[in-house]
Amino acid sequence: MTYVLSLVGGQFGDEGKGKITDLLARYADIVARSSGGNNAGHTIIKKGVKYALHLLPSGVLYKHTTNIIGAGVKIDPFVLIKEIEELKASGITPNLKIAPNAHLITEWHRYFDKGSEKKLGDKKIGTTGRGVGPCAESSANRKTTLRVCDITSINLDSVIDGIVGLILPKLVEFHPYFQRFQHLPLKVIIDKGDPELADEVSRYIKEMTKIYFEAGNQLKDYICKDIAGILNDKKHRFILGEGAQGTMLDPLYGTFPDVTSTHPISGSMCTGLGIGPTMINDTLGIFKAYETRVGEGVFPTELLNGTGEKLREIGNEFGTTTGRPRRCGWFNLCEAKYVVQINSMTWIAMTKPDVFDDFDEINVAVGFTNDKTHFRTFRGWKTDTTGCKSWDELPNEAKDYFSFLEKELCPIAIISVGPERDQTIVMPGFREHLKKHDIEIEME
Ligand code: GDP
Ligand code: IMO
Ligand code: MG
Repeated sequence: MTYVLSLVGGQFGDEGKGKITDLLARYADIVARSSGGNNAGHTIIKKGVKYALHLLPSGVLYKHTTNIIGAGVKIDPFVLIKEIEELKASGITPNLKIAPNAHLITEWHRYFDKGSEKKLGDKKIGTTGRGVGPCAESSANRKTTLRVCDITSINLDSVIDGIVGLILPKLVEFHPYFQRFQHLPLKVIIDKGDPELADEVSRYIKEMTKIYFEAGNQLKDYICKDIAGILNDKKHRFILGEGAQGTMLDPLYGTFPDVTSTHPISGSMCTGLGIGPTMINDTLGIFKAYETRVGEGVFPTELLNGTGEKLREIGNEFGTTTGRPRRCGWFNLCEAKYVVQINSMTWIAMTKPDVFDDFDEINVAVGFTNDKTHFRTFRGWKTDTTGCKSWDELPNEAKDYFSFLEKELCPIAIISVGPERDQTIVMPGFREHLKKHDIEIEME
């Protein structure tokens, strides 16, 4: 029987999903990305070399692992092509399959994303500006986006023509190529009732068609019509689903409206890959030992003081995609309990406790009353944990911290004590669990 593990972010993203996926991918037949787009930035550090992946699944560093980009992922083809090329330049040819029914982020989506954020002013979401939200809007309206299968289609120009006709007013509002027509009445814009505008539109379509046909040519060998067949092939022992973002950024279950546009929760593993819920054996939630957030929105445990700065500095908390400083705060247990429920998590992985190695005290938010946050305080361990290879080697204070979280949430599968693959403790209970599914973990 195939064992399917769904790996998802438990906070506001950047919990270390890339590191944990890469670690487990060594044993996986398939690593499949189910949601998000190139708003994601998943970092893998392998023997000091850093790989920042945005669209490629984090199993790409292994030759034997098939990497799937599922239909739930919003793909900017040019970002993907660049990522593949960069990987090839470092000597790795990705073993990649792309779902033909995934929707594409186009250049107009990027302009709409940045333009609408600017227009929102103080009320902006703080998006990554990569066009993921507008692409999701287009997917939902079913009319104004391209899909992967379109860019290898001979009717691409008519597809683009249809889309441009529908989005012309928005192009004129946000797209630098069309902004010079802003003085025209809306009706003239919609009807292309100005010869100069009509001319510009057809020039734009020609240019777009050429660009996207070229992209289609570069990606066509990776497009796979039978993702369902691959995922259901009984010969596979281990399929790892890699989520993006984090549960608190979910558009339904997160801190709406300051959220992302695709679903980071485990449920989206099914819709994003095209598998049924009965196929998923376990859900592994990734949590930082503290918490970070990029962009706007509520953050009840945020530390707007020297402690927050210390976390940012030691944890190197700057966005993988945009380079923005991440807001930092204490671990929020109330939120984490909710997140465990929303995802039906069966295991959790804790990352970056080593950032606390020099802390005297560590707080965990355990309750909120009348705008007051109640913390439980743990003694710091004041020792370097980055070389710890097992639970037994961890200082007692760290054990107390993890034992408390495990008791309140669910069993800890993995404790990551540094960014490198070998800076990881795989807990005995999780090893035993995987063994039952014929998966034997050996650390490097
Ligand atoms: P993701 O989006 O969830 O994959 O996370 P990111 O890659 O955006 O951010 C996590 C950052 O923390 C990356 O720079 C990782 O290399 C780093 N990292 C992951 N696990 C650990 C850990 O246990 N300790 C430390 N110090 N860094 C870690
Ligand atoms: P990974 O997969 C952290 C945040 C943005 C913004 C909000 C909406 O690396 O964990 P969007 O561009 O998605 O419309 O922005 O979501 N955001 C992330 N924050 N990690 C991510 O991905 C994120 N992807 C989006 O900062 O607040
Ligand atoms: Mg990230």
